[in-house]
Amino acid sequence: MRSQLDYSPAEGDGLRLVEVTADNYLAVLRLEVTEEQRQFVASNAVSLVQGHYHDTAWFRAVYEGDQPVGFVKLHDPRCEPAEAQGDAPDSDFDPAGKVADDSLFIWRLMIGEGHQGRGLGRRAVAVLADLARRNGFSHLCLSYVEGEGGPGPFYEACGFVRSGRVIDGEIEACLDLSIDGS
Ligand SMILES: CC(C)(COP(=O)(O)OP(=O)(O)OC[C@H]1O[C@@H](n2cnc3c(N)ncnc32)[C@H](O)[C@@H]1OP(=O)(O)O)[C@@H](O)C(=O)NCCC(=O)NCCS
Repeated sequence: MRSQLDYSPAEGDGLRLVEVTADNYLAVLRLEVTEEQRQFVASNAVSLVQGHYHDTAWFRAVYEGDQPVGFVKLHDPRCEPAEAQGDAPDSDFDPAGKVADDSLFIWRLMIGEGHQGRGLGRRAVAVLADLARRNGFSHLCLSYVEGEGGPGPFYEACGFVRSGRVIDGEIEACLDLSIDGS
């Protein structure tokens, strides 16, 4: 079953998650992170292909007004096949079989190089937390590669707390959505 999360943009919020279609996929492909950040996130090309082939994936472009500024791909554990394995020999990182059912999992998040440092990543996380809550999840989780210039401090600034679990060498961190202000 393909992930069908319930999402509608909040009234008045300038940041929206927009479906990727024939009209905007090139703009999404043109969004890139800095050269130093490439070790921490797959390209949007890989993420889009994965999004199409994995039923658990729910992906959108992040728009500020009418401008694409980033990309997000979620892993919806409720859409996993009964015996999900993840990580087929020729696939990229796949959270299937590794995430609790009550956790919506950020599989990819990137803000384009020219748009970083303006609070858009933090606002995107807030949108994702609302989306997770609205769809009945108790946690918003993710895993990241630790390293100089990596996203760890960003997620910490957004309130994510390390769970103590390591998923395929990546640090898992979660936002408890029952806590006010998360
Ligand atoms: C991580 C990323 C999404 C952050 O997006 P952004 O729009 O630049 O972040 P924001 O401007 O919203 O920053 C929010 C907070 O995080 C902090 N922050 C952001 N990046 C940081 C970094 N690399 N190191 C330390 N702090 C960081 C900011 O200082 C800010 O803190 P403040 O509000 O207390 O001042 C973006 O840098 C990115 O796309 N990186 C490459 C891809 C990546 O690593 N994705 C995660 C894969 S798991």
